[in-house]
Parts: sequence; C-alpha cells; structure tokens
Amino acid sequence: MSKIRIDFLSTLPDCFSSVLNTGILRIAQEKNLIDFHIHNLHDYSDNKFGHIDDTPYGGGAGMLIKCQPVFDCINKLKNERDYDEIIYVTPEGKLFDQNMANELSLMKSIIILSGRYKGIDQRIRDSLITREISIGDYVLSGGELPSLVIADAIARLIPGALGDSESALTDSHMDGLLEPPQYTRPAIYNGMEVPKVLTSGNHKLITEWKEKKSREKTNKLRPDMLK
Ligand code: ADE
Repeated sequence: MSKIRIDFLSTLPDCFSSVLNTGILRIAQEKNLIDFHIHNLHDYSDNKFGHIDDTPYGGGAGMLIKCQPVFDCINKLKNERDYDEIIYVTPEGKLFDQNMANELSLMKSIIILSGRYKGIDQRIRDSLITREISIGDYVLSGGELPSLVIADAIARLIPGALGDSESALTDSHMDGLLEPPQYTRPAIYNGMEVPKVLTSGNHKLITEWKEKKSREKTNKLRPDMLK
C-alpha cells in the first residue's frame, strides 16, 4: 500500500503541529500511512525581511501573497516528485464533501496552499493550482484550519488508520445516511432508558432498527441527503 504525502504551504506554520501530532493524525503517521511536511512561505522569500505579501494593483483593501515565494516553494517540490493535486483552500472553491475526501485519499502526493491576508496573486491560481476547495460558505482568517480539516478527512480514510471497531465505513455520510442514535452503559440514566431493542441481543432486529432510525434521522436533520 502506498503512503500519502501532504505538503502544507503556509505563512503561519505553527498552526499545524498540535493538530497533526494528536489523535488519528499522529497514529496514521506512526503507522507510516501518511507523511506531513510543513513549509513556511517566509523561508522562500527573496526579500531580506522575509516579506511575502504586497498591496494589490489597482487598489483595494489588504495585502496579497506574492508570486515569488509560492512559485519558488511549489517549483522546488515539483522538481523533487510528482504531485497529484496542488490545492488552494479558499471560500471561492468547490465545497468539500465526503466524496471529495474519498477521491483525495486515493492520491499519493498533494500540496495544500493556505492563503492569508486578502488572498493570493491570480497568477499562482492560473499556473500552479489544480483544484480550489472551500470547507464551507463562511470566511476564515486563513487557510490553515481548512487545510487541516481536509488532511484529517483524508487520513482517517486510509485503510489501517482507524481500528476495525471505528472503521470509516460506518461513518455518517459514508453510505449517504447519518448514523442512527447511539447509546452506552448504563441502560437507564436518570430515568432515561436505552431503546429496548438494543439490549435484546437480537441482531436481526437491531440491524433493522438501526437502518430505520438512520433513515428517520437523515430525513429529519438532512433531508437534502436523501434526494
Ligand atoms: N479560507 C478562508 N475561509 C475559507 C473557507 N471557508 N474554506 C477554505 N479556505 C478558506
């Protein structure tokens, strides 16, 4: 099985380590299923102060990330290996969903570029970026959190990243339905009882109940998923 490599390009590289070194993302690295590489765009600046941004031509508020550090960093990486996708995370991109996560989890090497300030020079998007992804219709102050969201969704899909009992195949969204309601011990808590069927030991009835509840819950909370 081939390992996935994700290269993150960012102006705030410190955002990444705590998330990447915790939980499933840490375990996936320890199991040699995925490799993360973080590149600080300031390190690629040819400016003696390490500046990577400048004001937009034609005026407008805020600063844009310049071509030079991004082209230098991505071209260096592309000279070292082939990349399946060079992703720019932006609220203008295609909405991220489970299908896209499944697709990306089959790739070998991916670059994810995080923007900051008011965005990036259009020439980066025109000549380097192969895919633009948004994680939702709201604006965050940078692409670091979206990059981590995408990496997490990919990593948990790699066979072996999750234990059998937590397999991604039973996730909500995987089969187009939400998961049924779930309960754990005790069977009665403050007078609230777990549905009897779940403690009945009858596996056929339990499966039927779960499928029914899954459908009911999806219909109630996310009717758009059933269309
Ligand atoms: N950068 C800022 N907001 C974003 C969003 N919603 N999705 C992806 N990248 C972003």
